[in-house]
Parts: sequence; structure tokens; C-alpha cells
Amino acid sequence: MKILKEYVKKFALRYLKVGAPKYDFNVEPIQMALLVNEIERMKNIDGCICEIGVARGMTTRFLAEHIKSQNIEEKNKYFAIDTFNSFVKDDLTFEVEQRDKKIIDLRGFEYNSYNVWKSNFSEFNFINAIQADCALFDFNTIDPIKLTFLDVDLYLPTKKHFKKFLMPL
Ligand SMILES: C[S@@+](CC[C@H](N)C(=O)[O-])C[C@H]1O[C@@H](n2cnc3c(N)ncnc32)[C@H](O)[C@@H]1O
Repeated sequence: MKILKEYVKKFALRYLKVGAPKYDFNVEPIQMALLVNEIERMKNIDGCICEIGVARGMTTRFLAEHIKSQNIEEKNKYFAIDTFNSFVKDDLTFEVEQRDKKIIDLRGFEYNSYNVWKSNFSEFNFINAIQADCALFDFNTIDPIKLTFLDVDLYLPTKKHFKKFLMPL
């Protein structure tokens, strides 16, 4: 059986291109490195990590692997916040009416599902998925944040989110 498996593997990798390495992340290697290094730098500081806009969870999975492999789960609770239902309608309307974007170019992430996402991360009990519009979510309901990765693509939710946290000069 093992020999047969090896033959199938050899055939598939050589002739079907199924083994060609791919980079499936939206985030660039240098950005991944920054996130990992920041988690490491703050690993013993109280506070949680927030990823806002998680899509199917590729970056979440990468960072979860780091947290788990370093055994730093206890002080590094991770909040994954997303609508899990693509973009908010008013945010899309703003892009089209005020920023000359085409609606066809803004479609995406409609595949997402809160329940599927949660079940995909069930082995990581320090990951908490929250279904919400980040512009409306009350961040006082979670632990103080030590690191945020804000990745929601559009202008309005990014601006509204920042407005909540920036102090007037
Ligand atoms: C670029 S993807 C995130 C990619 C992910 N961070 C990664 O590295 O793989 C953008 C995500 O933002 C989410 N999103 C867009 N507007 C949002 C909003 N107002 N509140 C919460 N999530 C939002 C979308 O549903 C989508 O899943």
C-alpha cells in the first residue's frame, strides 16, 4: 500500500503540477514577519490581539500557529472580527459614489460563513470569532488591545474605526 501511495504521489507531483508551491496569503511576507515579531515583542504584556477583517482566516491561521507553537496562548487571546458576510452596503455605496470605484471590482468574500469559520478554528481555543461591523462594534466589550491588524479594504469602515481610537491633538 505504501509503495502504491509513493507511486501515485510521484506521478501527481511530476506530471499534474498539483505539488507546485503556492503562496495563498493576502498579506505579504514582510507584513507577516512584522505581525509575528510584534506578537513576540509583546508576548508577556497583558492585552489581546485583534484582526479586523479576517476573510477565510489565512492570516489568522498563520498567526494562530505561531502563538500555539510558542505556547503563549494564555496571554495572547485573539479576536477575529468580521461581518462574515462581505462588505457593508453603505460602505460600498460610498466607494462607488464618492471614490469612483466600480461595484464589479468590489465583490468578494461572499463565500464566508461565521459558523464554518468558527468550526475551522475549533482547535484554537484562544481564537474568538466575532460577527460585527467593525465601525459599530463596541471594543470596550473585549480585553484591552495590544495589537490590531485592521484589514477591511474600504475607506469608510477604516476611517470610522480609526476615529474611535484616535485622540484629538
Ligand atoms: C482583505 S479581507 C481580510 C483578509 C485577511 N485579513 C487576511 O489576511 O487573510 C477583508 C475582510 O474585511 C471584511 N469587512 C469588510 N468591511 C467590514 C466591516 N465594516 N466590518 C467588519 N468586517 C468587514 C470582509 O468581510 C472581508 O472578510
